[in-house]
Amino acid sequence: MFAVFALLLALVYISRALDSDVLRETLESSSLDALFPGDPGYAEAAKTFNQRFTYAPIAILFPRTPEEVSISVKAGASQNLRVAARSGGHSYIASSFSGQNGSLLVDLSRMQKFTYDTDTETALIETGLRLGDIALALNEEGRFIPHGRCTYVGIGGHSGFGGFGFISRRNGLTLDNVKSATLVLANGTIAVVSDQVHPDLFWAIRGSSASFGIVTSIQVQTHPVPENVTIFNLVWELNVETTTAMLAKWQIFVDSGITPDLGGELVLSRGDSSGNVKVAWFGAYYGSSNTFNATVKPYLDEFPSAPIPSQSSITSGNWLTGLEALVFGALNTSTAAESRDTFYAKSIMTPEAVPMSQDAMSTFITYLGNEGFKFNGSWFVEVELYGGSNSAINSVPLDATAFAHRNKRFNMQLYASAPNSAPPFPDYGFTFVEGMVSSIVSNMPADWPYGAYVNYLDDRLPNWKELYYGSHYERLHVLKHSLDPQNVYHFPHSIK
Ligand SMILES: Cc1cc2nc3c(=O)[nH]c(=O)nc-3n(C[C@H](O)[C@H](O)[C@H](O)COP(=O)(O)OP(=O)(O)OC[C@H]3O[C@@H](n4cnc5c(N)ncnc54)[C@H](O)[C@@H]3O)c2cc1C
Ligand SMILES: *[C@@H]1O[C@H](CO)[C@@H](O)[C@H](O)[C@H]1NC(C)=O
Ligand SMILES: *[C@@H]1O[C@H](CO)[C@@H](O)[C@H](O)[C@H]1NC(C)=O
Ligand SMILES: *[C@@H]1O[C@H](CO)[C@@H](O)[C@H](O)[C@H]1NC(C)=O
Ligand SMILES: *[C@@H]1O[C@H](CO)[C@@H](O)[C@H](O)[C@H]1NC(C)=O
Ligand SMILES: *[C@@H]1O[C@H](CO)[C@@H](O)[C@H](O)[C@H]1NC(C)=O
Ligand SMILES: *[C@@H]1O[C@H](CO)[C@@H](O)[C@H](O)[C@H]1NC(C)=O
Repeated sequence: MFAVFALLLALVYISRALDSDVLRETLESSSLDALFPGDPGYAEAAKTFNQRFTYAPIAILFPRTPEEVSISVKAGASQNLRVAARSGGHSYIASSFSGQNGSLLVDLSRMQKFTYDTDTETALIETGLRLGDIALALNEEGRFIPHGRCTYVGIGGHSGFGGFGFISRRNGLTLDNVKSATLVLANGTIAVVSDQVHPDLFWAIRGSSASFGIVTSIQVQTHPVPENVTIFNLVWELNVETTTAMLAKWQIFVDSGITPDLGGELVLSRGDSSGNVKVAWFGAYYGSSNTFNATVKPYLDEFPSAPIPSQSSITSGNWLTGLEALVFGALNTSTAAESRDTFYAKSIMTPEAVPMSQDAMSTFITYLGNEGFKFNGSWFVEVELYGGSNSAINSVPLDATAFAHRNKRFNMQLYASAPNSAPPFPDYGFTFVEGMVSSIVSNMPADWPYGAYVNYLDDRLPNWKELYYGSHYERLHVLKHSLDPQNVYHFPHSIK
């Protein structure tokens, strides 16, 4: 029995080794840069942002052009390998490694072309670029696109699944601004897609791109930078009762006719003593600085009188100073290296139609005040505002893109890091985060129509098809069958 098992193992090992030789030969005739296991630089290039995951790809390729991406994909597909792109490498579950060892990783970091066209006011952005560098290049033209706060996140993953920033209530998600894209299909064909050409595929890549192709560039509608930007981060240390009240009032305030120029989130984290929670109201206002006070007053008046002065700030300035106050990471990402984390995160996108109940909010905040104080890693919950009055995200018709959530109020991100942010991630960390989610969901009706965000991938989510892709899963499934029958582009929560 054991001998048979050992023989099987040896065969698997030998066939892997052969795969790798065939791959080398296939690539030899091209000028593609590649790293194989054992090569200098391979271990560094195989590092993941979330150190909960360690994978060994069969090879890491560094194409410079769409044609070289096509060669990469064909080389992998011809050997039945799983193939995936890496843009900024910030997937929560390292999904560019396809969820297993021995996959083919196509790293896009050598594809960083950026051009701005003044006639169409669109930017052509290659997907090896990161958010900070794109923001800087656009600002040179007096333009911007909406996107998230971590400068090191890649535009590839970000624009393929969503792309939320505080200005998204005003200008939509990143993917809402994509006008056309160039991508490499599972059979190696290079396709340009837009509303006019291959509209089905164009639909699919705005919400589910990684299941259908490697997008090499996107053409994005840009906007003139707002003249005045105010970034505020106001922090309080509150007991469970007051925190619950502030969450309840946040849910009401956001529906009270607020302007799309206001965006933000409540950030909850560990209090200084058991039964307390640190509460930050963090956001941005893109209107005149003269009207900022009046805009935030109705909600601010509900908080206890004074936020913690040493931790609170209000910065008024232009678009660039606003970005600097908002982002974490260097805007110019080549000037500083980024530290990694070891974490588990979940998300709950709450439906506008059915607000969180008093019971759900109070159980949740009590859990954070007590269990959150005991937890010995760091953690946070972001109650990000997607919907509310006048939100551009929710003004897009549900079926216009594959993104499945056009009627959600909040996207709650629930995130815990291992002690010292170092591996291994402990079992009690999973229990802690799962407890946060169940304290809400188990206090809502069984058919509560909530969702989850594909850009906050959760490898332990059982009902992911429904929560991530909602009513779009079936249409995506049919497309997947015709465009990638071999399932070349595969990760744990890809379209099957
Ligand atoms: C610190 C941090 C902060 C974040 N902040 C925000 C935020 O403010 N707002 C927000 O919306 N999200 C945020 N996110 C989530 C982020 O948007 C996603 O993790 C995103 O998918 C990362 O993109 P990436 O290109 O860096 O990741 P990668 O790991 O390179 O890619 C993610 C997935 O997309 C696929 N992919 C990458 N490039 C391509 C491509 N060109 N074509 C097809 N598929 C591709 C990969 O194969 C993988 O499956 C944050 C994440 C982190 C780690
Ligand atoms: C994948 O390879 C890494 C590095 O060699 C190893 O640590 C890990 O256990 C492997 N994972 C699986 C699932 O085999
Ligand atoms: C910017 O703010 C100043 C006052 O600080 C105001 O005079 C100006 O009109 C504002 N511009 C816009 C576009 O709101
Ligand atoms: C806004 O409020 C702050 C603090 O209350 C005050 O210092 C500031 O002068 C006000 N700004 C305007 C434009 O009224
Ligand atoms: C970013 O920094 C690098 C290295 O210092 C520099 O070469 C590059 O010009 C900078 N880019 C921008 C847009 O400022
Ligand atoms: C952290 O908390 C867990 C669970 O309560 C406990 O088992 C562990 O020993 C603690 N670790 C440290 C370093 O305090
Ligand atoms: C690749 O797939 C696309 C989409 O199905 C198809 O149009 C194209 O003809 C295929 N190319 C090849 C070379 O088979």
